Amino acid sequence: TLMLRSAGRPPWYTPDGQNLPAYMIGIAGASASGKTSVARRIVESMDVPWVVIVSMDSFYRQLTPEESRQAFLNNHDFDHPSSYDYGTALAALEHLKQGLATQVSQYDFSTHSPSSESQYVYGASVIIVEGIFALYDPKLLAMMDVKIFVDTDSDVCLARRIRRDVAERGRDPLGVLQQYDRFVKPAFDGFVRPTMNNADIIIPRGLDNEVAIGLMIQHVQRRLDAHNAVLMRPALVRRFRDLPG
Ligand code: ADP
Ligand code: C5P
Repeated sequence: TLMLRSAGRPPWYTPDGQNLPAYMIGIAGASASGKTSVARRIVESMDVPWVVIVSMDSFYRQLTPEESRQAFLNNHDFDHPSSYDYGTALAALEHLKQGLATQVSQYDFSTHSPSSESQYVYGASVIIVEGIFALYDPKLLAMMDVKIFVDTDSDVCLARRIRRDVAERGRDPLGVLQQYDRFVKPAFDGFVRPTMNNADIIIPRGLDNEVAIGLMIQHVQRRLDAHNAVLMRPALVRRFRDLPG
């Protein structure tokens, strides 16, 4: 999933004419814990012109024909850390962070493969990376300015996941439960929940927790203001626009 807000703009420049790297927010948590919902809430409330949400599902490794066959039988493990291509993720996010045009593919959960659509993105001032493994890879962690973990009850997540996967991802309830028992639950306990230790901010109950959401948004906005304080005044920005980036 990729979501953009506002119209495009040229990259920002610092007083010495360098590109100002984008501010990067990571959001992890269980499947259906509310990561995407929290990311969208941040987008709605941020006072910045150009925010992009990149989902880690854009970086699923491509399946072999046999793996794909198993995936349609709910027998493929999409919840092991090795199901992601962190090299591609890192390259794409490094590009985006520098404001360079980057192709981000969209994922289709009903076919277990990238959809035919992919988008070129560039010049974001804030990048939000969300996914169950958003706070897993050390190189991705090193790029992030703030790291958030959404901590929602497992049974709430499972109930939401069954509803969503049936309504939006072309699944049947029994298949969702089979995949959950076999892969999703053990991987959450073994790999995903431990990444809570990498978080700066933990949000219990996700979007329902209005106090935590409010505090988090204030914090991120303050950090972002400090980050952007090195920006030049608009008149000077114009003068530097044509400098090589
Ligand atoms: P994630 O990105 O972690 O998988 P989502 O934000 O997509 O989770 O939420 C999963 C499902 O649960 C979606 O259908 C969403 O609309 C729903 N959902 C998320 N947060 C809430 C909430 N606080 N109350 C009710 N439904 C919610
Ligand atoms: O959006 P969400 O965080 O729930 O996405 C992650 C989940 O998507 C994983 O728990 C994985 O089981 C599931 N998945 C799937 N089919 C795919 C790819 C991922 O069910 N083809």
